[in-house]
Amino acid sequence: MAERGRFVTFEGIDGSGKSTQARRLADTLRAAGGEVVLTREPGGSPGAEEIRRLLVEGPPERWSAETEILLFTAARRDHLEKTVLPALARGATVISDRFADSTRVYQGAARGELRGLVDALHAQVIGHEPDLTFILDMDPDASLARGLARQSGEDRFEEFGAGFQARLRDGFRALASEFPGRCRLIDAARPEAEIAAEIAKLCGAEAP
Ligand code: TMP
Repeated sequence: MAERGRFVTFEGIDGSGKSTQARRLADTLRAAGGEVVLTREPGGSPGAEEIRRLLVEGPPERWSAETEILLFTAARRDHLEKTVLPALARGATVISDRFADSTRVYQGAARGELRGLVDALHAQVIGHEPDLTFILDMDPDASLARGLARQSGEDRFEEFGAGFQARLRDGFRALASEFPGRCRLIDAARPEAEIAAEIAKLCGAEAP
């Protein structure tokens, strides 16, 4: 399937404001005209949303890091097939709240030295990278408080604790250096509108 649209992803630790910023960018780009598909991982297609529930609910020890990699990758494959690639093929902009970088960091770095497995599976069954990735960077203590305050019932990863979130932050910062061509590190400890304006500008759009 030929790709024509632009694929933009948001990454960062839990509670860093990614979802809000993804939504704001979608609104800005829609106002400028053109189709925008706002989606998320894990999830973004009916099958992947079912897999999401297995991953984000329940106690932290429910799955090993290896099992998580398989489940996240299965969800991603379905999301790609059913949502992302068809939208890119018809020329839409796809904005995804998380994608493969989350697996690289959460499972590949922060929960064991499994990056080799993550990369091998990615190469075999995913094989697509975003055109542009915003990594929202902020202090884990502040973001963790925000994430848990939501009481979403989806706190399995937040419950790994503050040390885990600090390792994730380091992992995302390292990732921004590893893929400087497509990754932009964004200071997320600023007013929402200011962050949104910076992101819109980097996308070549103007925030309202
Ligand atoms: P969300 O809260 O951003 O929707 O994501 C659900 C949780 O899943 C979040 O704590 C991050 C985690 N996650 C991974 O561990 N690996 C992944 O590949 C993805 C996409 C998410």
